[in-house]
Amino acid sequence: MTKTIQAIRGMNDLLPSDISLYQHVEEVLTKILLNYGFSEIRTPIIECTSLFKRAIGEDTDIINKEMYSFNDRRGEGITLRPEGTAGCVRAGIENSLFYNQEQRLWYIGPMFRYERPQKGRYRQFYQIGSEVFGLKGPDIDAELIIMTARFWRFLGIDNHVQLELNSIGSIETRKSYHHTLVNMLEKNIKKLDNDSKRRIHSNPMRILDSKNPSIQALLDNIPPLIDYLDDTSREHFTELCRLLDLAGISYHVNHRLVRGLDYYNNTVFEWITNSLGSQGAICSGGRYDYLVKLLGGPNVPAVGCAIGLERLILLVRSVYPLLKTKKVVDIYLISSGQGTKNSMLTFSEYLRNQLPEFKIINHFGGGNFSAQFSRANKLAARLVLALGENEVAHHTCIIKDLYNGIQKTISQHHAADILRALLTDTLRKKHKI
Ligand code: HAM
Repeated sequence: MTKTIQAIRGMNDLLPSDISLYQHVEEVLTKILLNYGFSEIRTPIIECTSLFKRAIGEDTDIINKEMYSFNDRRGEGITLRPEGTAGCVRAGIENSLFYNQEQRLWYIGPMFRYERPQKGRYRQFYQIGSEVFGLKGPDIDAELIIMTARFWRFLGIDNHVQLELNSIGSIETRKSYHHTLVNMLEKNIKKLDNDSKRRIHSNPMRILDSKNPSIQALLDNIPPLIDYLDDTSREHFTELCRLLDLAGISYHVNHRLVRGLDYYNNTVFEWITNSLGSQGAICSGGRYDYLVKLLGGPNVPAVGCAIGLERLILLVRSVYPLLKTKKVVDIYLISSGQGTKNSMLTFSEYLRNQLPEFKIINHFGGGNFSAQFSRANKLAARLVLALGENEVAHHTCIIKDLYNGIQKTISQHHAADILRALLTDTLRKKHKI
């Protein structure tokens, strides 16, 4: 027997039964992004390996062990993007998007990291990201966070996420803290695990968010990075906290939050949930004022964040386990009798013009009304529109709501309005919004 070929480990198919929830979440998020003035950008999935090395940092986990990198036929090093910020910055520089102008950009697409797969952690995963260029104040950091809080509210999951916030200061701040940290760690070298020993000179800041409790206990003995902030960074952070308080956004200042990518400075944040086990970060980001210049562009400050879409969907599903994920047929048209099929075809075209947002399907298999109704039930249709010879003659149709069994005859002229009202109500209930 021929062996079947399977998907690559950690890479998932999104089947039609998953897609409606993805589309719903994407629609909610993209409408809010538009509402905040963001424009979509689409960049290639593959970029030069050097872009990620330079942007993310040579001593990060992503660069050291998680990239899907290849040589192309001409021997050029290329990499499947592990994240979206680097490509966005590269595209902005290359297309002169950053000169004397603010930019608010968003993107959606697959990212690739060679990590050990588990629930919420995949080798191909989708991110929805948003990046703002050209604004350096804490007000835009606050607005970005307020926008993400709106995402959770509109998805009905705001009671299931918490905001972790920190400031890692300027490059200079980090240099002086780096010194203190390495000194202290070297004095305790015997107590460090292998991971931390490896990082002590390459990337000691990452030791701060080690998951090892004995390392965390050791770190309790040194002053937090926030005590080392220069005045400008401290003022930035204080003002950000004030603006979040003003907006009613609660947060936890986590002095150990440093993030796994090297490009950040000052503000860093993560929205986390306890509902997904160890992969609890559903949205992460921060300020990266040095990256545009580092990649050869002008000196432009920036801030952004990205949501892991699979994790967000897992969370929505865990909060709403009864949410219907099967895409229901909104309107199923059936017909029986001389000439009724022609009317059904014309009528369904008219309805599709009037109700483009709904799924409208004609019954084509023949059979009597009873057989056609049971087909509609099987397809989980919400409304059935039936056309017999009598209805066609009087320009009416029978409408039956399969959710509550109510059936009535209505004029075809009013059908679109009546259907829209019924279906809008369904959508609201279906997604609890
Ligand atoms: P990140 O924290 O590496 O940041 O990823 C952002 C989000 O992507 C995470 O919070 C998580 O939800 C999701 N994610 C990361 N890795 C995986 C994985 N293996 N499987 C499933 N989901 C995952 C960035 O990528 C930055 N570019 C974010 C950013 C944008 N910072 C500024 N602008």
